[in-house]
Amino acid sequence: MDIDAIPPDAENEDRRFFLKQSMLIAGLSMAPADLLHAALVPDDGPVGNAVKVKVSLTVNGKRKRVTIDPRMTLLDLLREHLGLTGTKKGCDFGQCGACTVHIDGRRALSCLTFALMQHGAKITTIEGLSDGEKLHPLQEAFIKHDGLQCGYCTPGQVMSAVACIREGCAGSAPEVREYMSGNLCRCGAYPNIVDAILEVKKEGLKV
Ligand code: FES
Ligand code: FES
Repeated sequence: MDIDAIPPDAENEDRRFFLKQSMLIAGLSMAPADLLHAALVPDDGPVGNAVKVKVSLTVNGKRKRVTIDPRMTLLDLLREHLGLTGTKKGCDFGQCGACTVHIDGRRALSCLTFALMQHGAKITTIEGLSDGEKLHPLQEAFIKHDGLQCGYCTPGQVMSAVACIREGCAGSAPEVREYMSGNLCRCGAYPNIVDAILEVKKEGLKV
């Protein structure tokens, strides 16, 4: 549609503005996928959904080789391809922390991470934290301190809590709150989560 062809009377001004905004938003939302597509597809290669890439990574100590759409996030790879549904999809937008995993020992939001970019990386999810039937000390502490209600945020909270202690950022309640602030809990279990983390830190348990 040629927006400039719309007569410039008052009634059409709102419509003109709306159309321009819609086109701008549509253009912005298309840009990342187009750029990624252009970067990955050879000039004479296939296009569209036919493009797949092979990725090899270690998940919870096991080597995995998968063939995926290059636009797939690590979160979707874990949940949809590898059946590791412990890692939760909350916002899918980098806002809630429910999808937190460890990549090469560092916490990361798997919903904001392309799986393709983790080729060769070591990923740890909540399923890889316990030692067989034996729960991780932080999982035990969350249960002991009622650090969960519905439990939806809990895998991400626990993965962040482990990282928080390993990073040396669990010296006090305010510090824990600060370094756990990327993990939201709709049930408001925050005080109990902080207690659980502080106890594990205080007892010097290996995380
Ligand atoms: S699902 Fe990743 S931050 Fe919310
Ligand atoms: S325990 Fe329900 S969202 Fe945190």
